[in-house]
Amino acid sequence: MNDGSGAGLLYDPHIFVCLDDKGAEPGRGCCADRGVMELFVHMRAIAKENGVTGIRINKSTCLDRCELGPIMVVYPEGTWYAVRTKEDAEEIVRRHIIEGRRVERLVVRPSDRVPGDLALAEKTE
Ligand code: FES
Repeated sequence: MNDGSGAGLLYDPHIFVCLDDKGAEPGRGCCADRGVMELFVHMRAIAKENGVTGIRINKSTCLDRCELGPIMVVYPEGTWYAVRTKEDAEEIVRRHIIEGRRVERLVVRPSDRVPGDLALAEKTE
C-alpha cells in the first residue's frame, strides 16, 4: 500500500504475534503458556506454502491482552485477534492475509475481556 507520500508501507499486512512468556501482570496468563509458538510457526508455514509475499509475521512481546491470548495484531488496519488453534491461525492467513477479509469470529474488540467461548474453553481445560 502506498499513501502517496513516498514513504509507503514496507509490509502490508504486518502481523505481530505475542510470544511473551511472562504476561503483563501475575494472574493474567501469557501467550507462550497457551501454545502460541506452534501457532506462530504454523502461520508462517502456511504463508510460505501459499507463496505470500510483501507481508511480515513478527514475534512480539506482551500486547497487554494476556487473558485473551494468544493475541496478535494485524497492521496497518489494527485488527486484533485471539487465536487458539492451528485452524484459527490458518484461517487468519487464508482469509485475512490472502483474501483481505477479517475473521470476525476471532476479532478482539477494545471492550472484550474474556469472550464467552474462550472463558468456557479455559474452564473445561
Ligand atoms: S503475554 Fe501475550 S498479550 Fe500479554
